Amino acid sequence: MRIDVVTIFPEYLEPLNVSLVGKARARGQLDVRVHDLRQWTHDRHHTVDDTPYGGGPGMVMKPEPWGEALDAIEASGPQGTAPVMVVPTPSGRPFTQRLAVELSAKPWLVFTPARYEGIDRRVVDAYAERWEVHEVSIGDYVLAGGEAAVLVITEAVARLLPGVLGNAESHRDDSFAPGAMADLLEGPVYTKPPVWRDRDIPEVLLSGHHGKIARWRRDQAFRRTSALRPDLIERCDPAALDKHDRAL
Ligand code: ADE
Repeated sequence: MRIDVVTIFPEYLEPLNVSLVGKARARGQLDVRVHDLRQWTHDRHHTVDDTPYGGGPGMVMKPEPWGEALDAIEASGPQGTAPVMVVPTPSGRPFTQRLAVELSAKPWLVFTPARYEGIDRRVVDAYAERWEVHEVSIGDYVLAGGEAAVLVITEAVARLLPGVLGNAESHRDDSFAPGAMADLLEGPVYTKPPVWRDRDIPEVLLSGHHGKIARWRRDQAFRRTSALRPDLIERCDPAALDKHDRAL
């Protein structure tokens, strides 16, 4: 997968050199290119923002540098191929595991993290006529810019790429992964030592009884979800949960 990021703070994306994403890049599984938006400005001050039409506080990002940046990035790819544009914005649709899975199947993503009050609307409108565009929010809060959202979305997507996670099974039981535990949060996990500060681990985990362990994990997941995310229980298909129970 190729990922382009256009930003006025390229250094903000440096964590993409570290850990899972950094390793995927080093292995050639992920081609990440970070671009400074100001390279597509032409005035002495490299201006990227201006006052909003209609008045109001703050500044709006000018459309011209974004248009030049996105055209240049498109031209740098295979002829006739358009990237999928991902626009981080608090007014986007919520980022979910489902969208991470959808994006992980795309060969090429371009992120356009904004600062200030956002990008002139005509940019998204213009590219949406030619490209697939997703306006995405990582949560109901307002960040100072979209760069942190790019880090979040990239990590969620990269770990789904084939061969990126060491153990192909490791995202099967993730909270929010599709499957038997769909829509349940992951329950607690334990490792050695068996006693720590007088605290034992749940006995069932030492039983070697795979059916009982699976049953216990599902119950824990269900309890945790009921306590912390009752909205997810509401959305659960009771028939699917029952089917899973009978299979144990
Ligand atoms: N930019 C500012 N806040 C954001 C959010 N919550 N999600 C995505 N991009 C953002």
